[in-house]
Formats: sequence, C-alpha cells, structure tokens
Amino acid sequence: MSKPLLQLDQVSVHYGGIQALRDVSLSVASGEIVTLIGANGAGKTSCLRAISGLIKIGGGSIQWNGQDLKKMDAAHRVRLGLAHAPEGRMVLAQQSVEDNLKLGAFVHRRDRASAEQSLEEAYQLFPRLRERRHQSAGTLSGGEQQMLAIGRALMARPKLLLLDEPSLGLAPLVVAEIFDRMRGLNEKGMALLLVEQNAQLALRLAQRAYVLESGQIVLEGKAQDLLRDSRVRTAYLGA
Ligand SMILES: Nc1ncnc2c1ncn2[C@@H]1O[C@H](COP(=O)(O)OP(=O)(O)OP(=O)(O)O)[C@@H](O)[C@H]1O
Ligand SMILES: [Mg+2]
Repeated sequence: MSKPLLQLDQVSVHYGGIQALRDVSLSVASGEIVTLIGANGAGKTSCLRAISGLIKIGGGSIQWNGQDLKKMDAAHRVRLGLAHAPEGRMVLAQQSVEDNLKLGAFVHRRDRASAEQSLEEAYQLFPRLRERRHQSAGTLSGGEQQMLAIGRALMARPKLLLLDEPSLGLAPLVVAEIFDRMRGLNEKGMALLLVEQNAQLALRLAQRAYVLESGQIVLEGKAQDLLRDSRVRTAYLGA
C-alpha cells in the first residue's frame, strides 16, 4: 500500500505539566477528507498545531509522504504542501484583505505569476473577498474573516489543508457556503483535516473520522459509521 500523505504515530504534546495529547496516531491519505471531533479542551487544536509545526511534540512522530517532519519548521512544512487555517481566524486586522491573502503566498515569493494566480483563485472561491479587497481585515464580518483565513491558507496551494473550527460562531448559510467550497477543493484533489465541534456537519463532509477525548483517540472509523454510532450520537450529536 502507498504511504499516507500524513501519518501521526503515538504523538504526545505537553504544555508544562499538562498533557494535551497522548499517543495520538492518525493518518490522512492523499485527496481524503478526515475529521477530528471532540469536546472543548480535547486537544484538537493542539493536534493541528503539532502537525503544522507551531508546537513541538514530546514524543512519537509525524511523517509527510513517509518523511519525518521533526526537523522542519512551520514555513518548511507550508512549502511541502501543508497549510493551516487556524482557530480564531487570526487575520491581521489593520492590513487589507488583499495584503492578508498575499501573506499566504510567501512560499511563492520567487514566482509572482503563481502568486497572482492563487490570488485570483481565492477571489473566485470567495467572491466577497474580491469586493472587499481594499477593506481592512478587522472590519470584515466573522464569516468573511473565516473565508479570508481559509483563502490565505489556500494561497500556499496546499496538498493538505488543516482547518480548525470553520463553523464557529457563523450563521448556517455561511457555514454551508464554506463547507461547499471545501467539498469543491477536495474534488480537485486537496486533502482536508477538519477539526469541528459541529460533529454532524463534519461527519457528513468527511470520509473518515477520529474522536478525541482528553488527548486520546477513543474511536475511529468511516464517517458514515460514526454518524450511526450510539456513543458518538450521545456525546456529540445530541441524540
Ligand atoms: N498554550 C497552552 N498552555 C497551556 N495549556 C494549553 C495551551 N494550549 C492548550 N492548552 C491545554 O491543552 C488542552 C487541549 O487544548 P486544545 O486547545 O488543543 O483543545 P481543543 O480540543 O482545540 O478545544 P476547543 O474545542 O475548546 O478549541 C486544554 O486542556 C488546554 O487548556
Ligand atoms: Mg480548539
């Protein structure tokens, strides 16, 4: 069998005395949508931050196409095709929409044409960003800021997008729009590792899923099976 695009083996993460992840093993294949669900504080964001290189892992390994990511910093990981749209959007409020997007293209700094093309693609994906391209990012609505955060991550033309809580605080229609765009990008070949508290939505979009509880994977399987799983239904689907 070919190697998965991303493979975590027995990964642990500590913040001082707090263990946020314990022996987490998961994989994402090329072109796959995988979701990681779990309650507040389960360790979902920590997991994405470990993958993108924003925090160091205490044990275990993270491999990209079979290559150990340990010695590669976050920028290097972006160049390999791993982009992260962080929780809380984290746009630069004082900068324009377009400048925020261009920041995401830093991996292409030697190639203006390709950066321009990525910008065009981001605007096609989220036309509202084009209309507001000269507006400062801090004045965008919550949904627009989420689109901007995703658009900025996509500027790096990732093979895998790490997406942290895209639905948080957004109206259902905006969430539907974002999920629809994610499905479209996946159909063009991009893999997605989606962290969501809205388990219903996430399990409908994803092919496979992992459930994280107190830093440990407690359940994994096909998303459609987890949608029917009684433990998942009770704990995460409000059934
Ligand atoms: N910088 C930090 N310093 C200390 N503890 C942290 C830090 N970041 C996270 N933690 C702790 O690690 C645990 C996991 O946090 P994490 O943010 O990964 O959870 P999460 O699943 O993303 O939660 P949420 O759904 O609320 O976003 C929590 O107990 C949290 O308090
Ligand atoms: Mg989080």
